Amino acid sequence: MAELPMNLRDDNISEETKTLISSLPRERDSQGKLCKYQGCWYYYNTLQALINFQTNFQPRDSDIVLASFPKSGTTWLKALAIAILERSKQNSDDPLTHPLLSDNPHGIVPFFEIDMYLKTATPDLTKFSTSSPSLFSTHMPLHTMKEGLKDSPCKVVYLCRDVKDALISRWYFRCKYQNKQVAGSILESMFESFCSGVSFYDPFWDHALSYWSGSLENPKQVLFMRYEEMKTEPYVQVKRLAEFLGYPFTKEEEESGLVNKVLELCSLRNLSGLEVNKTGKTWMNVDNNSYFRKGEVGDWKNYLTPEMETKIDMIIEEKLQGSGLRL
Ligand code: A3P
Repeated sequence: MAELPMNLRDDNISEETKTLISSLPRERDSQGKLCKYQGCWYYYNTLQALINFQTNFQPRDSDIVLASFPKSGTTWLKALAIAILERSKQNSDDPLTHPLLSDNPHGIVPFFEIDMYLKTATPDLTKFSTSSPSLFSTHMPLHTMKEGLKDSPCKVVYLCRDVKDALISRWYFRCKYQNKQVAGSILESMFESFCSGVSFYDPFWDHALSYWSGSLENPKQVLFMRYEEMKTEPYVQVKRLAEFLGYPFTKEEEESGLVNKVLELCSLRNLSGLEVNKTGKTWMNVDNNSYFRKGEVGDWKNYLTPEMETKIDMIIEEKLQGSGLRL
């Protein structure tokens, strides 16, 4: 079996974090040891990275954080944000210099707890980003991430996706990096973990609710976006994103077709066809092409039984009751 990515392991933990873990709720799944910290489940190395981030990250007010539950379209959101910010810097005579053409979106926008703070508590941040604004990303829930942002007014964009599609996407992704056949038995066990709320970054409902509440409390700081809306009305949504980030498309840019160019550059078809995404790997040794699959809404219908569908829908309905959030 392929070695697990470092963030899923438990071999890089300080004595202090060991003591903390011993006081937390703990579980085990087929990949490793999990503990529940601030309401969310993490593998131990990820918890260490997250604590490193909370303690040591020095935000700048202009920083932008792209947040999501795993397999919700993070790669797409990163690509769009990069393209939106990058357009002010681009030399139109030389479009081949665009960073998306030579790196995967995850190589350009690092995760706090997966890339930056995983190996060391005090990373050299210039290695990750020197430009302003800097783009970062995370799968942590909002309340946990905010501890690392201290009181900085950094903008946060959350991308939410139908949880059944995210589950199927996660199943494929997991089988791929573990070099396993895409087996129904793995999906069944992931489904059970999801329903019990005990799985990496779960419970999903609390995750989504943290950002939902944050976006209601402070809409200028937290933008709540949906994968499905990006699929059905990409033009409107990319404009909404650009506006929120403080880089709205001008009338001239719209008239010149730039919004469509950004969408085309960031389309699944285009990104997945780029050499860097066909052959490259992230620094955690995950193939770049694992981040691109079908990108369809409702693909879960091909895999989940009606019983599974009903169970997930009932759980989500119950957990979101009274919140105003509908999924
Ligand atoms: P599927 O597995 O359903 O196809 P993440 O980026 O959070 O890891 O999520 C991966 C999911 O987003 C995968 O979904 C992938 O195909 C989809 N995706 C990746 N890039 C995309 C893009 N440019 N446009 C739309 N969907 C994209």
